[in-house]
Amino acid sequence: MKKFNIAIDGPAGAGKSTIARLVAERLGFIYVDTGAMYRAVTWKILRTDTSLEQDDQMIRLVQHTDIQLLPGEKGQLVYVDGDDVTLNIRYPEVTSNVSRVASVAEIRKILVAKQKEMAASKGVVMDGRDIGSTVLPDAEVKVFLTASVRVRADRRFKELQAAGQADGITLERLEADIAARDKMDQERETSPLVRAEGAVLLDTTEMSIPEVVESILSLCREHAVGGK
Ligand code: CDP
Ligand code: CDP
Repeated sequence: MKKFNIAIDGPAGAGKSTIARLVAERLGFIYVDTGAMYRAVTWKILRTDTSLEQDDQMIRLVQHTDIQLLPGEKGQLVYVDGDDVTLNIRYPEVTSNVSRVASVAEIRKILVAKQKEMAASKGVVMDGRDIGSTVLPDAEVKVFLTASVRVRADRRFKELQAAGQADGITLERLEADIAARDKMDQERETSPLVRAEGAVLLDTTEMSIPEVVESILSLCREHAVGGK
C-alpha cells in the first residue's frame, strides 16, 4: 500500500494512543504521540521551577528543549535533552498542568513544526487534539475518536487499578479531572480540540479496541482504493 498519513484526534481517554499504536503496527507505519510532546515540555517546566504564570519564561525554555520520540519494545520512548522521561511524563502533576502549557500559542508553534517534520515522508499515524485541523490538515485519513466522559474515566480508573496506582483515587475525581481538561482543550484560542473538516466521527463508548482498529483500517482501505 502506498504510504499516507492518518490523523487521530479526540478528548482524553477516548483510546487515541492505544488505537493509533495498533493501527500503526498493522500498517507498518510510525506512531507519533503528540500529547507526549506537550507532556515532555510540561515535565521540564515543572522540574526547572519555571513559572506556569510566565508565558515568556516557558517559551524560552521550550525553545531550548530537545525532544525525541523513539520506538521502544513496549511502545514509544520519550527523551528530553537526552534523558528518558517516558514514565515521568505520566505523573499526575504533569497531567494536571499540561493543558495550561498547551494553551500557549508560541509553544504550540514550536511543537507543531516538529510534528509536521516527523510526518513529512508519510506513513505516520499521529494522535493528539489538533492533528486533523492544524498539524496535518492534508492527512489522507482523519478520525475523531470520542466516548462518554463516564466511560473514559472508567477506562483510566481500570488502567490505574491494573498498575496498582488507584489508591485514594475515585472514579468521580477522575471524571471531574477529565472534564476539566477537555474544557480547557476545547476552549483555548489556538488550535482548540475540534472535529476537523473531513474527520470521521467514531464514538467508541460501546466499541471494543479491535472493533475500533478494524473501523480505521477499513477507512484506510477505502482511501487506498480511491473510494474516498
Ligand atoms: O492521553 P491523554 O488523553 O491523557 O492526553 P495526551 O494525549 O497525553 O495529551 C495531554 C494534553 O496535551 C492534552 O490534554 C492537551 O492539553 C495537550 N495536547 C494538545 O494540546 N495538542 C495535542 N496535539 C496533543 C496534546
Ligand atoms: O490516548 P487516549 O487518552 O485517548 O486514550 P488511551 O490512553 O489510548 O486509552 C485509555 C484506556 O482506554 C486504555 O486503557 C485503553 O486500553 C482503553 N480503551 C478501551 O477500553 N476501549 C477502547 N475502545 C479504547 C481504549
